[in-house]
Amino acid sequence: MSKIPVIIDCDTGIDDAMALVVACASDNLDIRAVTTVGGNVSLENTTRNTLNVLHLLGFSHVPVAKGADKPLQRPLMKASRVHGVSGLRGYEFAENYTDNLVDLPAWDLMRQVLMSSEEKVTIIALAPVTNLAILLQKYPEVKGRIDKIAFMGTSYHCGNPTVLSTFNVMVDPEAFQVLLDSGVDVYACPLDTTKTAYVTPDEARTFHSITGPAAEMVNGLFGGYCQVDTKTEVFDEHEEGERNAKQAARMKSKYEMHDPATVALVTNPELFTWNKYFCQVECKGELTLGYTIIDKEDYYAKDEDERNLYFAESIDREGFLRVFRASLEKFSR
Ligand code: BDR
Ligand code: CA
Repeated sequence: MSKIPVIIDCDTGIDDAMALVVACASDNLDIRAVTTVGGNVSLENTTRNTLNVLHLLGFSHVPVAKGADKPLQRPLMKASRVHGVSGLRGYEFAENYTDNLVDLPAWDLMRQVLMSSEEKVTIIALAPVTNLAILLQKYPEVKGRIDKIAFMGTSYHCGNPTVLSTFNVMVDPEAFQVLLDSGVDVYACPLDTTKTAYVTPDEARTFHSITGPAAEMVNGLFGGYCQVDTKTEVFDEHEEGERNAKQAARMKSKYEMHDPATVALVTNPELFTWNKYFCQVECKGELTLGYTIIDKEDYYAKDEDERNLYFAESIDREGFLRVFRASLEKFSR
């Protein structure tokens, strides 16, 4: 089977780092480029983390380009309380690797890859989609070169960091509306579904027996995921809100694998069920900013070709855990 050419856009981030492990381990993907954006932490940190993770996995031949340091129209809201101030709480790299950082903005590298590829390219979007909105607005000619955008985010009846809204939409809602309006096929792995792709602390401990750099990093990161260290970490004002004790306990009892599940949507589509809906983004609401209004009840009676979002209704958790474990084991050989 020929490999699927992909570009990965990320804000590395604990679960982004784990997603890169799944992507790099997959025999189904041909990773043509990785681009970074300000999101979970600053652009400088997401870029450094991305370069270091790819180097650790032996993928430093893949070009990496930095993108936007903030959303299209808003200041950046980060998620350091979840991921740590560095973005990778729980794991430290001995040195910073930069050889594959290219001197182009993310959207220019994406355009290069898209226009020079013989086949259409899939974009795996694991972060606020500022880079993709800039790409589509600046270079509309790339639209026909994109097979699909697999996006981590949207939700029907849950949210993080608010009751309704998901981080990757809420940080840059205008950018996500650009994607929905673009005519490119957007496949969402919504929070409703990624929340069910969790790893329990007991399951995470079973990974300790796996050797190799990927498992070593992932084991460290599970130790740091959602474990706010109030003694040493200094957060600035551009952060999503503090979690209360109940929320924090819940986050520590189930590590939600949002970004790795979204990679699995491309590598292992058989694990998912789908429906296509019409979706709009709330870009103004005081309590609802970033909420995705998904017309499951067919209120607007949109025809198939007017519906703009493929929505992953479910994931086979056991199957996903098998893919994740196998990804770690791949690097132990
Ligand atoms: C998403 O938000 C980020 O914090 C994670 O990396 C993931 O992409 C989950 O809502
Ligand atoms: Ca992410």
